[in-house]
Amino acid sequence: MENRLPMEETLIMIKPDAMLAKNAGEIITILEKSGFELKKSKIFRMDDELAEKFYVEHVGKDFFPGLKKFMQSGPIMALVLERENAINYLREIVGCTDSSKAEPGTIRNLYGNHNFLTSNAVHASDCPVSAKREINLIFQNNK
Ligand code: CDP
Ligand code: MG
Repeated sequence: MENRLPMEETLIMIKPDAMLAKNAGEIITILEKSGFELKKSKIFRMDDELAEKFYVEHVGKDFFPGLKKFMQSGPIMALVLERENAINYLREIVGCTDSSKAEPGTIRNLYGNHNFLTSNAVHASDCPVSAKREINLIFQNNK
């Protein structure tokens, strides 16, 4: 019998730095070539309320004000992606938080700012509970 991993949904957000640099198209191409189905998408701006809900685990940390300012510096594109093992696989191809330390060929290595940790091109959900919470938050009422 085949050993299949479960089909899952995850959330990617193309952050303002990558949107402003016109890298959204190349990032979506990488996602498609990596076997993800694009299930939903939207372009929006992050207001204070959404920033505080989305990054609830980081509110109060020293980097939160800078992160919020960065996430509010331009439009964001969110996509719901489906694939086998989507959550872990996306984190793998995104690379680690610090773009300057991300593996060659990962999205953050290719498109993140290697001199400014906050500016790392994309967000990717980190576990099933976060993926569900974040998808519901960004695509509230299926909008
Ligand atoms: O995004 P990821 O899950 O890899 O990292 P995180 O620890 O959940 O942090 C969320 C985001 O905050 C990062 O993607 C960075 O944009 C930013 N951050 C930062 O500016 N400075 C840090 N020391 C840690 C994170
Ligand atoms: Mg995180």
